[in-house]
Amino acid sequence: MKKHIALVPGDGIGVDIVGEAVKVLDRIQEKFGHEFTYSTYLAGGCAIDATGKPLPEETLKGCAESDSIILGAVGGPKWDKLPSEIRPEKALLGLRGELGLFCNLRPAIIYKQLSEACPLKPEIVGDGLDIMVVRELTGGIYFGERGRDENSAYDTMRYTVAEIERIVRKGFEIAQKRTKRMCSVDKANILNSSQLWREIVERLAPEYPDVSVSHLYVDNAAMQLIRNPRQFDVIVTGNLFGDILSDEASQITGSIGMLPSASLREDSFGMYEPIHGSAPDIAGKNIANPIATILSVGMMLRYTFGLTAEADAVEEAVSKVLDASYRTADIYSEGMKLVGTKEMGDLIAQAL
Ligand code: IPM
Ligand code: MG
Repeated sequence: MKKHIALVPGDGIGVDIVGEAVKVLDRIQEKFGHEFTYSTYLAGGCAIDATGKPLPEETLKGCAESDSIILGAVGGPKWDKLPSEIRPEKALLGLRGELGLFCNLRPAIIYKQLSEACPLKPEIVGDGLDIMVVRELTGGIYFGERGRDENSAYDTMRYTVAEIERIVRKGFEIAQKRTKRMCSVDKANILNSSQLWREIVERLAPEYPDVSVSHLYVDNAAMQLIRNPRQFDVIVTGNLFGDILSDEASQITGSIGMLPSASLREDSFGMYEPIHGSAPDIAGKNIANPIATILSVGMMLRYTFGLTAEADAVEEAVSKVLDASYRTADIYSEGMKLVGTKEMGDLIAQAL
């Protein structure tokens, strides 16, 4: 298979970890006989410094013309004081919005090798946790009308029927491939947009009779994630609630440096990135954990290219290296073998 991949390392450790993802892709193409080519583009703070814009046209065009995108992370204290229209985060929203990447998959998994890192009591997590947050990514309050005057400011949460239907259907389809439980999260006791959301989930449910559906208000969902996370399999929710709950879910796994994500369009074109941020304090020091980005490569092979054996191979290679006790600093515990970013990338490529 011939594929052209857009690399958008971004800022901070983004540069360190995307390099390791490429190492793994290169090994995959060798081993399975594919041909991957790459172009690298600026986005975020580095793009502001170079061009004055967080998302230069060249980046957007290059990404749109690629077969898939791998993104590192954007942002850092250097750009925090800029007005929101030209902050690094705008690059992310621009890519998501312009490319129509409405379906954001954020798995929260406890790796058995890292189970002590989970901050919850063992009796609460039992023998593990495997939650998939399905977050709507191109609508809601992030993209609604907004404004500001001297004495007030506002943002609007608007969802169309079509926007809700397509993400809820994704939630159902993903639940069908897992344990067939889907929890829809909203704030239907207060918000009109959530009432519409809930009505649509109820209306579509009979089309997926094998999936059992529940509804939770977002405040309760936040509480239940800590109280009894094992009740969840697929969580489907809007943009803002999904942003917050996916961070919460990732934290209860105890290893945010391990978690990948996918942002997909209807036709399975996608952008893949780690859940964690740009960690500017450790950038360029060869200590960041590249595994979340490497697992994002695995998701890309699976969801956009349909290369299941290759995706399985990436996940198995990561598991093997963890089994052999290699750890980057963020997941290190006593008795383990401490390695840097590049060594971790090399080890995973070798395990492949
Ligand atoms: C995320 C981030 C972004 C979001 C920010 C950086 C715009 O928090 O990907 O979750 O809120 O969507
Ligand atoms: Mg977030």
